[in-house]
Amino acid sequence: MLQKCVLIFSVFSLVVRTHARTHEDKNALSALDTGFHKMSLQRLTALRALMANQPKALSAYIIPTADAHNSEYIAPVDARREWISGFTGSAGTAVVTSSAALVWTDGRYYTQFEKEADLTLWTLMKQSLTDTPSIEKWLTSHLSEGAAVGVDPHTFTRDEWTPLQTALTKHNMHLIPVAKNLVDEARTQLGDPPPKRPNNTIIPLSVKYTGKTAGQKITELRQKMVEKKASALVITALDEVAYTLNLRGSDIQYNPVFFSYLIITPTSVALFTASDLTPAVREHLDEEGVTLQRYPIADVETHLRDMAKELSEKGDGKHSIWLSSDGSEAIHRAAAGLDVLKTPLNLISEISPVALMKLIKNDVELEGFRQCHIRDGVAVSRLLKWLHDQIDSGRNITEIQAADKLLEFRKDEADFMGPSFETIPGAGANGAIIHYSPSRNGVQKTIERNDMFLLDSGGQYKDGTTDITRTRHMARAPTDEEKSAFTRVLKGQIMMGSALFPKGVKGNVLDSFARHSLWEVGLDYAHGTGHGVGHFLNVHEGPSGISWRPYPHDPGLKPGQILSNEPGYYKVGDFGIRHEDLVEIILVTKDSKHPKAKGLLGDYDGRGVLGFNTLTLVPHHKDCIDVDMLSDFELSYLNAYHKRVLDTLGPILKQRGLNEDLAWLQQECAPMLRA
Ligand SMILES: *[C@@H]1O[C@H](CO)[C@@H](O)[C@H](O)[C@H]1NC(C)=O
Ligand SMILES: *[C@@H]1O[C@H](CO)[C@@H](O)[C@H](O)[C@H]1NC(C)=O
Repeated sequence: MLQKCVLIFSVFSLVVRTHARTHEDKNALSALDTGFHKMSLQRLTALRALMANQPKALSAYIIPTADAHNSEYIAPVDARREWISGFTGSAGTAVVTSSAALVWTDGRYYTQFEKEADLTLWTLMKQSLTDTPSIEKWLTSHLSEGAAVGVDPHTFTRDEWTPLQTALTKHNMHLIPVAKNLVDEARTQLGDPPPKRPNNTIIPLSVKYTGKTAGQKITELRQKMVEKKASALVITALDEVAYTLNLRGSDIQYNPVFFSYLIITPTSVALFTASDLTPAVREHLDEEGVTLQRYPIADVETHLRDMAKELSEKGDGKHSIWLSSDGSEAIHRAAAGLDVLKTPLNLISEISPVALMKLIKNDVELEGFRQCHIRDGVAVSRLLKWLHDQIDSGRNITEIQAADKLLEFRKDEADFMGPSFETIPGAGANGAIIHYSPSRNGVQKTIERNDMFLLDSGGQYKDGTTDITRTRHMARAPTDEEKSAFTRVLKGQIMMGSALFPKGVKGNVLDSFARHSLWEVGLDYAHGTGHGVGHFLNVHEGPSGISWRPYPHDPGLKPGQILSNEPGYYKVGDFGIRHEDLVEIILVTKDSKHPKAKGLLGDYDGRGVLGFNTLTLVPHHKDCIDVDMLSDFELSYLNAYHKRVLDTLGPILKQRGLNEDLAWLQQECAPMLRA
């Protein structure tokens, strides 16, 4: 498993204490494990030999956790840092020199690193500590003048490349793009070549789900290109290609995307994929008004260099090529014609217009989001009822069994395509590990009657993507501390969910609403409050989000965006609480269906009033709510929410003959009263 659902910005280094014991045991084992040491050393030695054999010998080689498309989750074929270091965490960057081997990673992974890497060869650089030097600082202070630092330019975005290059140049050092990946070469040499890059079947997504044909999208993108004086738009992010063409794939787990590049010019569309397009895809593109040439994915850089030459010879000098600054350094170089032109082309390297287009969901996508949340609500509610039944009747259910059962319930729902990330089923102290992922090997944790149980999961449906967290006490008898924390987190979720705010403010403005009730008593949570979500695409979608730290490319909040609303509280070694809903941003006027609409006195001097409509439909655990801590507004908000859950899901359960589930839901959604 690669990455989980909560966006972390700063880290809970305390979390590692819970694992300290297992790590000591494991270390004792790996010290004895000379086979493991031999293998780790062999890998490093092979890489170092390749570094020394470059045209200009490399003093250091950087191996980030990245693919050529800046994907958040990567496929096994791109897991190079994992292979060279043995460390399997989802984040981290390795640096190898002739005498040192280091991995920079954050506090989520310190323990895991120490368990997995050979510590006689590898050094952990604790990125979350302020006195740990950055990679840039470390390189410039440890290498000598004239040193060459190598990177596969496919694994660095231009945004990452430029500052490192500037820093190295200042110290008289060089950043060298090494086109062939040296880890892949080392793997091949050692008879352990990288796995094959997936080229799974590409499926069309009809306009019934997308609301806008690929032809319309391309026409709109071409208009933006005219405004920017761009001769070509190069799309490198996999979700952007999938979105533009209304196609989906399964090359990366949990993300319905396929390895590809897309180049749009005023007169052509070129798609670069591993395999030929199927007749079904061809027919879909025809229907959607797209005429497109398909090329092998390996040809994209040659194609870009040829395009650069042509533009340089025949262009008017006023038009440029448009790329996202998140595009790889390799693609930027090819598009500028760096190795083939005396004067490389200027590029427009800024946020992609596709990212901004897919950020605002159209009416069909929004309706799909609402509909899939109804079906997802049915599945999650059924799971929660099932789980209580099991525990009440004394059966032992492990965290993994609960996660697997949830998948079964989701599979009963129409248009379900798979999970949107790996389920986080945190019972008891595991709930406090924000990115917890139980191992399927070894002893599995049973969910105990006295556990708080945090369940964070999501589904991919053809009409939308879900991401929900609910926390429950299995014996319905939380301690006062658990109840109070549960209620404070819920108050935060309500304060954010019911907030009104001016159109165009950036997401970080809203962050403190969700923390208010915790901050009042000196509590907090070490992750962001909300992330964007793709439409049957990535469960984390930029460029907006809600965190104390502004998202650099957040264009300001607008109606039609989908965000998560997920405050939490984590008591390390004890329990974790998170309440997560997905919400859509709506325009609010006095007549809107919004709990604060009637009280509006103005519209922020014409800027427009925005608020949220909550999409997620699963009850909160009432036994964990301290009603005395709720204001009248909060109490009526919750009662109205629960009524809506029952009114929406109830008839479906009834129609399907799921009478026991219906009875459970009725009880869970009954109004709360003050004592
Ligand atoms: C993937 O590529 C292989 C050849 O490498 C080919 O045989 C296979 O049909 C391709 N799969 C798809 C779904 O196109
Ligand atoms: C559940 O597990 C406990 C040990 O953790 C064991 O004593 C008990 O018998 C198990 N119960 C069932 C119903 O299997």
